[in-house]
Amino acid sequence: MDQPIRMKSNGQITVSLNSQKRKSLTKELPVPQVVPKVIPPEHSALKEIEDELGALVGMEEMKRMIKEIYAWIFVNKKREELGLKARKQALHMMFKGNPGTGKTTVARLIGKLFLKMNVLSKGHLIEAERADLVGEYIGHTAQKTRDLIKKAQGGILFIDEAYSLGRGGEKDFGKEAIDTLVKHMEDKQHEFILILAGYSREMDYFLTLNPGLHSRFPLVIDFPNYTIEQLMEIASRMLDEREYSLSHEAEKKLKDHLIWVKAVLSPNSFSNGRYVRNIIEKSIRAQAMRLLLQNSFDKHELMTLRSNDLIFEEDS
Ligand SMILES: Nc1ncnc2c1ncn2[C@@H]1O[C@H](COP(=O)(O)OP(=O)(O)OP(=O)(O)O)[C@@H](O)[C@H]1O
Ligand SMILES: [Mg+2]
Repeated sequence: MDQPIRMKSNGQITVSLNSQKRKSLTKELPVPQVVPKVIPPEHSALKEIEDELGALVGMEEMKRMIKEIYAWIFVNKKREELGLKARKQALHMMFKGNPGTGKTTVARLIGKLFLKMNVLSKGHLIEAERADLVGEYIGHTAQKTRDLIKKAQGGILFIDEAYSLGRGGEKDFGKEAIDTLVKHMEDKQHEFILILAGYSREMDYFLTLNPGLHSRFPLVIDFPNYTIEQLMEIASRMLDEREYSLSHEAEKKLKDHLIWVKAVLSPNSFSNGRYVRNIIEKSIRAQAMRLLLQNSFDKHELMTLRSNDLIFEEDS
């Protein structure tokens, strides 16, 4: 595959997250002309989008995908102006990944970005989980689900841990919720974007429950676990944003701890970015207590987390 996004004749889009393959294939292809890398000035919205995406560590394919959607929408407008066919595409998505890999963060951002890109008229995010969709008697679920879809008009309906809708089998009202979602995502496909999120294995199983489900999600995106370097970079950005930094010793201690914890915890139970955020927030509180007891409040001290301040999850 030589494109991260490839449109099939049935309108489905496949996103390739394997940049390695892309590189080797690109090399073999003759490059007809050099495409300028700098975005032309009239695309200020794209520039803003790039800046927002730039705040997230990694996720290169996701960033590329969003920019390609921008380009595709822009080009479609140009095509329309010249009387060419410009088909709309549904942009429903499925996010698969372990805890803390950024699924909720990206869904929120996509709402904002798609508003800027005029894909959505409001860009708001309605977050829901099983209990918000599933009712207590026949017909109740369809009503609750329809109400949520209505609220999400012009924005994104984000269903976290969506696989839990399929958990109870045929008799469970979760099935009614899935059926209602499937119906509306077809009928109202250009009025809202549905994002189903959940852990990879559970989502794969969920897709097998309703034969029509897979083809209705043109964009299936994997959120891989972060590497140690990426986790350290996430930590550094979170600290920067809060105007803190780690002492050299603290940095080493954090890195060693992350190497250890990633080795001992199963991928399903290590919560990636959230794990890092929790460490930072606890350590900031520990530093505050230390400074209070030491009665030392100079600017450098106020900004520095030392190795003794680092509080790891199992300590708490
Ligand atoms: N690529 C990233 N760059 C910077 N921060 C990140 C990144 N990914 C995740 N984080 C941070 O990690 C935390 C957890 O992310 P988020 O809640 O989006 O994960 P999630 O995949 O939705 O987790 P869960 O599946 O458990 O709901 C957030 O504070 C987020 O800001
Ligand atoms: Mg989440």
